[in-house]
Amino acid sequence: MRLSVIGCGYVGLVSGACFADFGHDVVCVDKDADRVAALRRGEIPIYEPGLDDIVASNARQGRLKFSLDIAEAVRGAEAIFIAVGTPSRRGDGHADLSYVYAAAREIAAALDGFAVIVTKSTVPVGTGDEVERIIREARPDADFVVVSNPEFLREGAAISDFKRPDRIVIGTTDARARETMSEIYRPLNLNQPPLFFVDRRTSELVKYAANAFLATKITFINEIADLCEKVGANVQDVARGIGLDNRIGGKFLHAGPGYGGSCFPKDTLALVKTGQDADSPLRLVETVAAVNEQRKRAMAKKVIAACGGSVRGKTIAVLGLAFKPNTDDMRDAPSIAIVTALQDGGAKVRAFDPASMEHARELMPGVEFCGDPYACSEGTSALVIVTEWDPFRALDLDRLTGKMASRVIVDLRNIYRPEEVRRRGIHYVGIGLPS
Ligand SMILES: NC(=O)c1ccc[n+]([C@@H]2O[C@H](COP(=O)([O-])OP(=O)(O)OC[C@H]3O[C@@H](n4cnc5c(N)ncnc54)[C@H](O)[C@@H]3O)[C@@H](O)[C@H]2O)c1
Repeated sequence: MRLSVIGCGYVGLVSGACFADFGHDVVCVDKDADRVAALRRGEIPIYEPGLDDIVASNARQGRLKFSLDIAEAVRGAEAIFIAVGTPSRRGDGHADLSYVYAAAREIAAALDGFAVIVTKSTVPVGTGDEVERIIREARPDADFVVVSNPEFLREGAAISDFKRPDRIVIGTTDARARETMSEIYRPLNLNQPPLFFVDRRTSELVKYAANAFLATKITFINEIADLCEKVGANVQDVARGIGLDNRIGGKFLHAGPGYGGSCFPKDTLALVKTGQDADSPLRLVETVAAVNEQRKRAMAKKVIAACGGSVRGKTIAVLGLAFKPNTDDMRDAPSIAIVTALQDGGAKVRAFDPASMEHARELMPGVEFCGDPYACSEGTSALVIVTEWDPFRALDLDRLTGKMASRVIVDLRNIYRPEEVRRRGIHYVGIGLPS
């Protein structure tokens, strides 16, 4: 099939590359000329394990092309996926749909023949109706259907998530669109992921409900972690104790510094706004968003407490800046609020991350970036693990703390066993663990 994907970000690029890998002919479009030029040279603008190989092999075989020109990409395409950003609108938390609507207008201008226009971006309920209205207004003659097909991939595991999804949600009641969408995803039949057809509004809401539920699970265990610290219990054992109940499940029950990233923070806020606008407030989600926001700075207080109540004039090492391992995405990363709060407290911060330091540099003025964890810890009064990258899991703790001003580790991801660290004479603070 001939497909086009508008937006070459984390979702558009992965979707386009994987569709090409299934055998479809794909043109990926972005309005960022540098990004398109880099992709044409075979350079991948984001860190996503395995993506470079898939892009290279499909580009070589001529199934995957990159373009700046929506019109060229849309002409003759059977389906056009909108995968542009939907960030929080400045100031109020509503999703900013200006990129989606701009893409819709550009698609409208170029439509020829029947096409299915698929919103892959995460968009509030009713956005499909508006996309349809925009296109119909611009092109009363056009033959098209607007479908919702939210994306559930996780950064860092995006390719396997895309190729082996738990489910594919498709929002349409149109028979032709249903046929086109079934054909696009047919190569996945071998793994038999359920193709779940619902109406468009329901599909749009499924995505937000899923993210809000996962954010709630994380926030729940984070609050239980705080309680564990107060009453002398162990959150990891509580999480395991409840997670073994398959009505609850063990995933997303890892206590930590609060959720971040390009999706949960903005999507919970946007869902709250949808609820308020519809006179159906989602008080649980409102609380989750508020609790999570406070938590990030509370983590800095934890570090300050571990340093004896003040970090003024001290240097603190931070390991891990990206919002989670295996990505370079810094959007709403907890590290930003933690580093800022430490700097506000008078600390100097040194940091290391395997992939995100280039992005972090712009977001974290005053931070000294280091070449590896050992260089990062030298001369510091505490080392804070913010992101649980694999290379941080088996560090040589004696070497790591050997040149520190004081041997303090604050492990916001509980990747080390407290007794093993403490046995070395290191002051160790985890999350939700008995002291
Ligand atoms: N990142 C994730 O893990 C993830 C997962 C599931 C869903 N989503 C959703 O998918 C959407 C895209 O997210 P992302 O992280 O890939 O965003 P992103 O910011 O990484 O990429 C968006 C890209 O779209 C391009 N763009 C914007 N307007 C354009 C236009 N009119 N024409 C061509 N290109 C245009 C931008 O230049 C950018 O490269 C969002 O709605 C997001 O919520 C993201």
